[in-house]
Amino acid sequence: MYQFLDSPAVRKDRRLIWAVNRSVMENMGLSLKKSGRKSKSHWNLFVVLLKFFALLLKITGYYKKGYGNAKTISVNEITLKYPNLPAAFNGFRILHLSDLHIDSIPGFAALIIDKVITLKFDCCLLTGDYRRDINGSFNHILKPLHILSKYIRAPFGTFAVLGNHDTYLMARYEHESGLELLVNESVEIIKNGEKILISGTDDPFNFYTEDALLSLETKGYDFKIAMVHTPELAKVASKNKYDLYLCGHTHGGQICLKEGAPLISHQFEGKQFNHGLWNIGKMTGYTSKGAGVSGMPVRFNCAAEITLFTLVN
Ligand SMILES: [Fe+2]
Repeated sequence: MYQFLDSPAVRKDRRLIWAVNRSVMENMGLSLKKSGRKSKSHWNLFVVLLKFFALLLKITGYYKKGYGNAKTISVNEITLKYPNLPAAFNGFRILHLSDLHIDSIPGFAALIIDKVITLKFDCCLLTGDYRRDINGSFNHILKPLHILSKYIRAPFGTFAVLGNHDTYLMARYEHESGLELLVNESVEIIKNGEKILISGTDDPFNFYTEDALLSLETKGYDFKIAMVHTPELAKVASKNKYDLYLCGHTHGGQICLKEGAPLISHQFEGKQFNHGLWNIGKMTGYTSKGAGVSGMPVRFNCAAEITLFTLVN
């Protein structure tokens, strides 16, 4: 079972304040990062390059190959050992889904479901980016998300954070989508009288606020997991003694010259955060290459993934 740290009334009030702030940022086109206001020139240049690259792929015939790659999802199984993991959670399995961009490829939800139904897990964590575009309508993704959620059988809950492609308006539909959204909030997972903590922040790539930092300051647990769309808050989480940090956003580059060598990576924290496991102090982090695609529905030298973690002590 699980329970939120804050009462429903406190959560309701905080969610309202968050929604007002987020709506201002979204509607004014403000991008805020921990380092300050973000320039959009990088993104505009990326969009131009993307159009040119798509044309090149179509002319050379590689587009079809890349599209096929994007529809092929790997399941990565990883065991993580923690001496401080409460005994009741020995063998606890977490399904990590990131960057579904579920409307980028027709029928993509079915491809994810084909993988998910073969797996057994206790809890599912989704680290943002549910739609393809960064603005516009999202109603069309509600049905596929809802169908997917029916196949995610996680007895200890399914929790999600928002990414930079998501809007605050999606929060209205969290339960309809079968998810518990963590917006700068934490939840206790309780098993046989022992507890671990899961904290989820709002997206720090475009919508950073100090509430995200505050939500990573909870103390008093033997084992803590942070869910953030990007690796940007990893140092903060490590400093606050989180044990595991799950994120996505990079897509592992999505288009790589060779495995691990992306043409473009939308993160500026360092190459080690591009994909896979990394460490800061005693904290282990994992950047998912993501299940879906954005920009262009192709992948090269960078397999789409869903990840199954087993925690052991
Ligand atoms: Fe993404």
